[in-house]
Amino acid sequence: MSGRQVETICCLGAGYVGGPTMAMIAAKCPHLQVTVADLNIQRIAAWNSAILPIYEPGLDPVVAGVRGRNLHFTTDIHGAIAAADLIFVSVGTPTKSYGIGTGRAADLRYIEAAARVIAEVSEGHKIIVEKSTIPVRTAGAVRTILEANTTSNATFEVLSNPEFLAEGTAIQDLESPDRILIGGGNTAAGKAAVEALVAVYANWVPRERILTTNLWSSELSKLVANAFLAQRISSINSISALCEKTGADVDEVAHAIGMDSRIGPRFLKSSIGFGGSCFQKDLLNLVYLCESFGLPEVAKYWNQVLRINDWQKSRFVGKIVRAMFNTINGKRIGILGFAFKKDTNDTRESPAIRVCRDLLHERAHLAIYDPQVDPNIIYQELLGDGVAPTILESNMEICSDPYAAANKSHALVALTEWDEFQTLDMGRIYELMLKPAFVFDGRDILPAEDLKGHGFEVFTIGKG
Ligand code: UDX
Ligand code: UDX
Repeated sequence: MSGRQVETICCLGAGYVGGPTMAMIAAKCPHLQVTVADLNIQRIAAWNSAILPIYEPGLDPVVAGVRGRNLHFTTDIHGAIAAADLIFVSVGTPTKSYGIGTGRAADLRYIEAAARVIAEVSEGHKIIVEKSTIPVRTAGAVRTILEANTTSNATFEVLSNPEFLAEGTAIQDLESPDRILIGGGNTAAGKAAVEALVAVYANWVPRERILTTNLWSSELSKLVANAFLAQRISSINSISALCEKTGADVDEVAHAIGMDSRIGPRFLKSSIGFGGSCFQKDLLNLVYLCESFGLPEVAKYWNQVLRINDWQKSRFVGKIVRAMFNTINGKRIGILGFAFKKDTNDTRESPAIRVCRDLLHERAHLAIYDPQVDPNIIYQELLGDGVAPTILESNMEICSDPYAAANKSHALVALTEWDEFQTLDMGRIYELMLKPAFVFDGRDILPAEDLKGHGFEVFTIGKG
């Protein structure tokens, strides 16, 4: 590192965040060498192959343009750390599944392991950047671990730089972010580290969109941004239930309130509930933090966002069972979509998991189609919570197109809003299905009025 200028970057964690983010940095900063390191040998092999491990529109050409030039993927974590001036930490921070804080607190073992490896390998000055979403004040713990474990004269500055990209739109979010947030310490070295990272993003992000704050504000802002986004979805989903009782239409209500510039139109699409690797994990984490800091009222307030999300999913299943004469035992049900949203192959916390498991508990036979999700992942996601391998073998099949999923089915259930579902030949689907042919649209993606014209029994969310 010459002066305060960063020349070599490494990122620990080649996931949905680390991979695309580093590809964009490499594309926008040809003068920097960027290496993404991960423990997972298959994942790194996939990043180095023609078929990338994640499906993300627009990602392939970005990677193809820089891989081997100034973007490298490796399992040599030590080598990548040793060579880097600046190290992004983008390893997973799942919800803890054991001990204190089970089911709520963030599991920081991968963050701690990363800090220990960095301390062991580093020499000279390194800037460590938290990319992973972590509980507020984690930077303090990372710094302590680094300083307690270094065996050389290495010095470290720890920054927080949360990622706000959404899957499915990652490339445009990275290319033209609403803001870049960088939190750092108030010392001269802290400020210099912040400026070094600002200089990286300033290669393509306008300076006024690069916000710098103290460390704790930056760490907390990521959790709060996700909590506010998730809260809007639970708010509109709670109103969807009231719409169904009163004859109001939730989309009309969302449109009417969204035109108020104080509210705004985005993130008001009612659905079967939010999924994805972040919202639930980060809300649980926020709730846990509030409880830990003696703020039970605040914890309860945010916990309700999660409760409404769970309720929305079970409400949807209840509607299916009731409409189909209170039994779906042995009935074939076509499932359209399994990813947690369109334009991704990610299924983490997908609402489809809960809906499909509940349908299996009712002994339905599921015929699942998703354009991007690997069938093995669907199988693994559904296993557990009372769904045994024998149930999946007898009552679940993966279909290669939506018509196969509809064939001889009693119902079609849309769980992901893939664009291709908007242009299905619904007349053909009606002919293929058993009668009465039910459609349950959990995403408001199918043309409801057309469907009724074909003869379908149609159920959507939030329409009276
Ligand atoms: C991750 C975090 O889960 C999230 O909290 C944060 O906001 C951004 O980074 P994501 O990229 O979606 O999100 O996670 P994932 O796709 O699971 O990638 C994490 C990668 O880290 C995996 O490829 C895993 O193999 C790797 N890893 C994990 C390591 O290389 N070392 C470890 O010690 C642990
Ligand atoms: C989210 C945040 O948007 C992003 O800033 C953060 O970095 C990571 O978490 P992501 O989970 O990838 O991103 O996707 P997002 O578009 O936020 O969707 C999350 C879930 O909410 C999906 O299941 C989606 O279908 C659902 N959703 C979203 C709705 O049900 N209604 C909406 O109006 C918007």
